[in-house]
Formats: sequence, C-alpha cells, structure tokens
Amino acid sequence: MDPLVVPVPSLVLLIGPSGSGKSTWAARHFGPYEVVSSDRCRAMIADSEADQSVTPAAFELVRFIAARRLEAGRLAVVDATNVHAAARRHNLDLAAACGVPAVAIVLDLPVERMLANNAGRAGRVVDDEVVRRQRRDLDEALGVLGSEGYAAVHVLDEATIDAVTIERVQEP
Ligand code: CTP
Ligand code: MG
Repeated sequence: MDPLVVPVPSLVLLIGPSGSGKSTWAARHFGPYEVVSSDRCRAMIADSEADQSVTPAAFELVRFIAARRLEAGRLAVVDATNVHAAARRHNLDLAAACGVPAVAIVLDLPVERMLANNAGRAGRVVDDEVVRRQRRDLDEALGVLGSEGYAAVHVLDEATIDAVTIERVQEP
C-alpha cells in the first residue's frame, strides 16, 4: 500500500475508541515528543492517566503543547479518542489558528478487537460499555469526517493497520 503522507508541520488527529491501539500505533510511527497524549497530560496534572476529574485541564494542556509545537514548525500528533465532533473541532480550529493542515487518521477496527485489547491491559481498563459506545460514535464520525475540513482523512482497518508506513513531507 502507498505510504500515508504526513506534512510537517501539521496537526495529526488520531481518531479511535479506547482500546483501538492509538497509543501503541503512534509510538511505532512517531517520536515520543511528537505524540501529545491526553492520558499523559492527565497524569502530568493528577499523577494518573485514569483520573477523569482533570479532563478539562488535561485537554487545555494538550492544546497548549500542540500549539507551541505547531508554531515551532513541528508535528503534533494528538492522541485522544476524538470520536466526538466537538473534540475534533477544537483540534481543527487549533490547526487553522496555527496556519497548518490537519490530517485525520482513523483506527477503524472491529469492536471485538478493541474489547480484547482493553481487557488485556496491564493498567487502566475502560468499561466495555464505554468502548461499545465510542465504537458507535466512531461509526457516526466516519459519515461526516470527509466534510469537517481535514487536508486528508486516512482510515486504517485490520487489513492495513500493521502494514502502513508514514512518509513525512516537509512543507515549504
Ligand atoms: N495492543 C495490542 N496490539 C496492538 C495494539 C494494542 O496488543 N496492535 C494492546 C496494547 O498493548 C494495550 C491495549 O491493546 O494493552 C490498548 O492499546 P492502546 O494503544 O493503549 O489503545 P488506545 O487506543 O491508546 O486506548 P486509550 O484511548 O484508552 O488510550
Ligand atoms: Mg492511548
């Protein structure tokens, strides 16, 4: 398959339910500072990646770090579920404010695979019902992503997720 082209700088938005393997996939293809994770930001504030009580502050931190990286001409890979339109809109607005394109990468896997990934976790395990709901939210998102304003939308599924490679293209 063709490599997935990522302009630099750009805001790369990962989209996938909890347990879809976003953080695992991102760590394979991007550097540790390029990936800006909402869970890591939760932990930076509250010492726990699972502490939902600091969600607003964690997302403020995600957006702050992403904006500073984009202003510096770097990549920002936002690692959060992004299954809701409002979350995606924040990121699209941020990319636009920084004058860079936004690229969506969707992890479109069967719910059974996500549930199995989630159940097999060492630490933070999310309720099955949350994963199922996020999978339904993703189905809805897949119908509208094309009109939200990304420079490109890439949908990875079971057939492509392990094979795909990234090609970085430096923007002038
Ligand atoms: N996992 C796996 N094989 C993959 C991808 C993920 O075994 N190809 C496992 C991971 O080791 C982890 C679990 O599945 O134990 C969830 O993966 P993770 O990357 O953490 O999923 P996220 O989408 O990042 O979940 P969250 O939104 O909750 O952070
Ligand atoms: Mg994760």
